[in-house]
Amino acid sequence: MKADLLASVRTFVATEHQLFVGGEPRPAHGGARFDVQDPASGAVLTTVARAGAADVDDAVAAARAALPGWRRLPAGERGRLLWELGNRIEALAAEFLQLEALDNGKPTGEAAAVDVPLTANGFRYFGGLATKIEGVTIPTYGGLPVHVSTRREPVGVVAAIIPWNFPLLNCAYKLAPALAAGNTVVLKPAEQTPLSALRLAQLAAEVGFPPGVLNVLTGFGPEAGAPLAAHPDVDKITFTGENSTGRSILAASGGTMKRVSLELGGKSPSLVFADADLDAAVEGTFGAVYFNQGQCCVAGARIFVQRPVYDAFVEALAARVHQVRLGSGLDPATTMGPLVSASQRDRVLGLVRSGLAAGAKPVVGGATDPAEVDGCPGGYFVEPTLFVDAPPDSDIMRREIFGPVGMVAPFDTEQEAVALANDTEFGLAAGVWTRDVGRAHRVSDEIRAGVVWVNIYGWFDVAVPFGGFRASGYGKEHGIEALDAYLQTKAVWMGLS
Ligand code: NAI
Ligand code: MG
Repeated sequence: MKADLLASVRTFVATEHQLFVGGEPRPAHGGARFDVQDPASGAVLTTVARAGAADVDDAVAAARAALPGWRRLPAGERGRLLWELGNRIEALAAEFLQLEALDNGKPTGEAAAVDVPLTANGFRYFGGLATKIEGVTIPTYGGLPVHVSTRREPVGVVAAIIPWNFPLLNCAYKLAPALAAGNTVVLKPAEQTPLSALRLAQLAAEVGFPPGVLNVLTGFGPEAGAPLAAHPDVDKITFTGENSTGRSILAASGGTMKRVSLELGGKSPSLVFADADLDAAVEGTFGAVYFNQGQCCVAGARIFVQRPVYDAFVEALAARVHQVRLGSGLDPATTMGPLVSASQRDRVLGLVRSGLAAGAKPVVGGATDPAEVDGCPGGYFVEPTLFVDAPPDSDIMRREIFGPVGMVAPFDTEQEAVALANDTEFGLAAGVWTRDVGRAHRVSDEIRAGVVWVNIYGWFDVAVPFGGFRASGYGKEHGIEALDAYLQTKAVWMGLS
């Protein structure tokens, strides 16, 4: 660990971490534990409890027991607790961004600009919405002698299964709307990055969330995630992660008819037209591919550039990629950290290898061995890579890479650009770079994806709905619409005769 860690972070990391169930820390049944690694060195940071099926039973029971009290709490009080949790996270921002850098590897500057403020805002936004969940009265079609009203009720016990790319922020995406709507939650953070979720649970208890409203099970997918997906007393699953995991959760939850929301990543395109502000397009597409080491569900890894500016664009983007400085997330000079784990690094290197074998040409990078970084021996680094001439049906053009690897290809017409953009099973996001307003609207309309960014890329705001089409999943996060995923409508008929 680096010497410049805050004392509070050092103390927290060194704690003997337990599960968080029914408002208190407790060990896993059987006392199982697992290691948490620093991806910048591979060193073991600490150990955490390793949940299994019996712990899932306990956490679900705690969430079920807390449900009546939580949903009957005045909405203003639920909202106040969420708001205070957001404030508390903001007040402890310095701690959280070090924790994220340690556990996930991301640069603290990025966590300071994105992860921590969006998390705090997420809790405050949904805290504000807790008091605005309203039903309607309905005049019947048939003019029946009745008074009909609807109630918007929480779904019940929600299991939230989240990934490692934005460990804290993904907690907020799930917890804030679920709790605002009056549900109780069992949260399973990714096994690679459990620490910020555990710190969040401590803070929730400190600000006054009643025991059992938020439970955290640290553990692995098959041992702790799968039993949640199949548990008869879980009413809803909200999941972010790999497409194949989403499919297995859907299958496991079918037997008990759970409601499911899925955010499953993508293979998002950026379309750069010849009339675009090229400097802005280079910077924007650079961020689209390489932000967060490329470990983004919305990574815009397929870049299509109109032929007249293609060569100049490739040259400028390559120059931008050359400026990347690999290092520990805790070093302020670092612009790209390590990947989250050795297995993620190896998966990405395997895809780079497959790209080379398929005939793609690296204009930057292309190394198929882990990158060596001064001061970070043993870290899970991958050299940022930019390919041209990747065959359209190669794995690097089809599969989510989730690493610092981009592909650039030329196009001629707007119609061709749209066809290339849509030539994917996914539909999460897309970027369009043009100064032509008519084209911006036409292309935005034609793209099959849940988010289109024009002349920007990767911007998020908790007020704006986010979520995919097609194999990228379903169910929106952020925005008022996000509450729908955590509410069910009850019609109450009152006879008047
Ligand atoms: P994953 O989808 O396996 O893991 C995400 C979460 O699901 C973790 O909490 C994990 O413990 C849990 N999980 C795994 N198997 C489960 C099961 N059978 N039942 C219930 N929960 C389960 O993703 P993984 O293996 O960490 O990463 C592999 C690839 O997935 C990445 O290379 C990337 O392409 C993609 N991915 C996409 C993300 C996104 O934001 N869309 C986030 C993370 C990964
Ligand atoms: Mg997996």
